[in-house]
Amino acid sequence: MTRARPRRSTSWQDANVRPSVLAVDDVAANLLTLDALLEGLDCDVVQANSGEAALRLLLKRQFAVMLLDVQMPLMDGYEVAAHARSNPATRDVPIIFLTAASDSEETALKAYGTGAVDFLLKPLNPTILRSKVSVFLELWRRREQLALAMTRLESKSSDLEEAYRQLKETQAQLVQTAKMASLGQLVAGVAHEINNPLSFCLSHLKTARKSLDAALEGLGELTAPVQQHWDRAQNRLVEMELGLARIADLVVKLRTFSRLDEGEFKLISVKESILALLTIVGHRLAGRIEVVTEFGEPDTLACAAGLMNQAVMNLVVNAIDAMEGQGTLTISTGADGDVYRIVVADTGTGIPAEVLERVFEPFFTTKPVGEGTGLGLSLAYSTVKKHGGTLTLENRERGTRASICIPLGPSPIAKNLL
Ligand SMILES: Nc1ncnc2c1ncn2[C@@H]1O[C@H](COP(=O)(O)OP(=O)(O)OP(=O)(O)O)[C@@H](O)[C@H]1O
Ligand SMILES: [Mg+2]
Repeated sequence: MTRARPRRSTSWQDANVRPSVLAVDDVAANLLTLDALLEGLDCDVVQANSGEAALRLLLKRQFAVMLLDVQMPLMDGYEVAAHARSNPATRDVPIIFLTAASDSEETALKAYGTGAVDFLLKPLNPTILRSKVSVFLELWRRREQLALAMTRLESKSSDLEEAYRQLKETQAQLVQTAKMASLGQLVAGVAHEINNPLSFCLSHLKTARKSLDAALEGLGELTAPVQQHWDRAQNRLVEMELGLARIADLVVKLRTFSRLDEGEFKLISVKESILALLTIVGHRLAGRIEVVTEFGEPDTLACAAGLMNQAVMNLVVNAIDAMEGQGTLTISTGADGDVYRIVVADTGTGIPAEVLERVFEPFFTTKPVGEGTGLGLSLAYSTVKKHGGTLTLENRERGTRASICIPLGPSPIAKNLL
């Protein structure tokens, strides 16, 4: 049986703030005396009327000190102390033995032998008891303060770590944004420069055709060698037209890619964007990597187009980098329930576990200096996060699968578009 002084709270939470003293004695009157003697000290006194009850209480909460009667039936004070010391959870509680004066010397030796901190002789001297208990209460408070300070320090250092991480992320974004901005400007500029001569080449080609057709009428019947030259010229004109049409297509794609409308959400055709970026990386695929595209429904996605293009581009470039020699690059898109997925899979090297843990860290790269900045995935990650989605990388049987998942449905994006 245990009894706590009713006028004081002895809840577990309080015990952490306010120190508690465990008084152990089989005689109820002695417990009452102890309670009275400790009156006025800023602590809770918890009572136990047997060694067993005391050990149970020790396991439940922490005490600043245990006042332990030596002579108790069933389990005496020494046994209680030995049990307490043998358990790592209760080993550190300071013990003051309370014992009769008659066997003081023997008690002293035995008491210290069991790891007691001190002992007091009965009848108890109130001043000595209070002053000894006060020392342990003070010790407890200091320890609590220290623990609190340590916790604060730990949380401060984790705040610092978080600030550092954010700083690195921002820096990475700035570098990549600047890189993409200049690439975007370059691409847009080149597209513009190509567009002018392209337009007049196309229109002149039409005029040249018409003029040649008109000339043919004037020439009448052609001799066989002249007809041959004529046919060859016509064929070349058709090829030139096809070539120019391809350039026109490329210009459109370059323009799609270079839309640097970072913060702005708009509806894009995912297929168009992906085909545009595949054109841009086309020279790295040629003859080596087979591209499989699976464009699902819907094709339109509300997103920050420039950023999303860049994020998918980073995944595609990584996939290409991971495949030495032959390989297959699979890009699939479309909604799966209320989530939009863009999945880029490769048949490359895969990612070792220790690398996988760090791939989203800004500036983390396994590529040689000059080849990788280590920003691709960290940037893709923050873009996807901006859309409220997730970016995951996992190893497949062969190679890696990178998945962008963007939640669909009513979102700030949709509101923005209305
Ligand atoms: N598909 C992949 N297969 C194997 N490893 C990958 C793949 N994608 C990323 N990684 C690993 O993750 C690292 C980090 O990728 P991340 O795109 O962030 O940087 P990077 O490609 O090294 O450099 P950057 O993209 O700036 O040119 C890579 O260096 C590579 O080790
Ligand atoms: Mg990369």
